[in-house]
Amino acid sequence: MKKKSIAVVTGASGGFGKEFVKLLVQDNSIDEIFALSRSEEKLEALKNELGDKIKPYIIDLSIHERIKEFGSYLEMQNATVKILINNAGYAKFCSYDDINIDETLNMINLNISGVVAMGLTCIPYMEKGSHILNIASQAGFQPVPYMNIYSATKSFVKNYSRALNVELKDKGISVTTVCPGWMKTNLYERGLVGAKKAPKRFMGMVSPEKVAKKALEDAYSNKDISVYGLHVKLCTLIAKLLPEKVIMKCWLLQQGIK
Ligand SMILES: NC(=O)c1ccc[n+]([C@@H]2O[C@H](COP(=O)([O-])OP(=O)(O)OC[C@H]3O[C@@H](n4cnc5c(N)ncnc54)[C@H](OP(=O)(O)O)[C@@H]3O)[C@@H](O)[C@H]2O)c1
Repeated sequence: MKKKSIAVVTGASGGFGKEFVKLLVQDNSIDEIFALSRSEEKLEALKNELGDKIKPYIIDLSIHERIKEFGSYLEMQNATVKILINNAGYAKFCSYDDINIDETLNMINLNISGVVAMGLTCIPYMEKGSHILNIASQAGFQPVPYMNIYSATKSFVKNYSRALNVELKDKGISVTTVCPGWMKTNLYERGLVGAKKAPKRFMGMVSPEKVAKKALEDAYSNKDISVYGLHVKLCTLIAKLLPEKVIMKCWLLQQGIK
């Protein structure tokens, strides 16, 4: 029996992830889209909106046991993973002591361990020409006070994914690290916790739809990094040129944080 060709999208229930699903649903070479998130209601709504190609899978990706269960589910599918979009992630905009240790570690579990575990789970089902998109951030190019854990998790994703891309060359699988700047999504609902000191000025905010479109084009061209827009390109260039101390001072000034 011919293997079905699937896409796996984490954090598919809204924001950036949903934009990827909307683009992938138009791709006739993909038979099914496994849409992963915690919210059954939102994933069912996504299926009603986009059709039966969407296969909702309810999962908390910050828990490794749940990812192991997804691995067993994948094993039963007779499928090739044509594309994996490791998108689920969240930020907290606050000082290190505005959130407790559990919340701090949960962010690391989802943004780092979830990304690594999902990649390692899906790679055995990939073939030459398959693609992984790991969603990092512009914040991954520098240390960012008052988003310290988030920016550090995204630095990890960037470095890990770029190195993995080199390691997977022989298999013909590409890994594209996607580094968006601010996008209009629900990230801020979960991220803004009412902290006294917190980033509140989100310059150069763009629609996630455009960033997703460019990210997919870059992945299909086997680019190892995808950066959308002049604003983000300039910021990442400056972050590479100036000392981190200076970059952090500029960030605090721009945010009006003393
Ligand atoms: N928005 C920005 O400005 C921006 C900038 C750079 C990078 N990014 C990155 O883009 C990615 C998507 O974020 P977004 O902006 O689209 O935010 P969002 O609108 O809050 O979407 C986050 C998605 O992740 C899912 N999710 C959260 N926790 C989860 C968990 N424990 N297990 C499974 N799924 C979980 C959410 O679904 P459920 O709640 O249903 O689980 C939702 O679908 C993140 O990695 C983020 O860091 C965002």
